[in-house]
Amino acid sequence: MKKQTLPVISKQVRTFLVNAARAAADNAYCPYSHYPVGAAVLTLDGQVYTGCNVENVSYGLGACAERTALFKAVSAGCRDFAALAVAGGDKKPAAPCGACRQVLAEFCVPGLPVVVARLTGGKVTVTTLGELLPMGFASLS
Ligand code: THU
Repeated sequence: MKKQTLPVISKQVRTFLVNAARAAADNAYCPYSHYPVGAAVLTLDGQVYTGCNVENVSYGLGACAERTALFKAVSAGCRDFAALAVAGGDKKPAAPCGACRQVLAEFCVPGLPVVVARLTGGKVTVTTLGELLPMGFASLS
């Protein structure tokens, strides 16, 4: 994981990111799971990239919302991130899957705030990437 101290994000920014993630979930392509997820990453220079899950008839080829958002940002030239929001689930919120946690750790510091919300309403939880992935893989070389 990167070493870097992040600015604290305000409640307004968290709400903005959750709304962006929820809006992104509207574009989810999930005819197999029927489980839409949206994500929004905030870059350190204030840009927001969103993503949704995109499934495939060959199930293992689907992409999660978090990776879609992150890869959109990285492919646009952004590699420095300030926060992530994820929106998914009706009764319980969707926390990032293990694979997405490891991919996030490639570009984000352990202190990255991760905001987890349901698709609509409910409690919004704020955690960090380091809490979600305490001992991620790191190359020993
Ligand atoms: N999914 C995400 O997009 N993000 C997560 O963090 C968990 C799961 C997607 C993958 C699949 O399209 C659907 O949700 C059901 O697992």
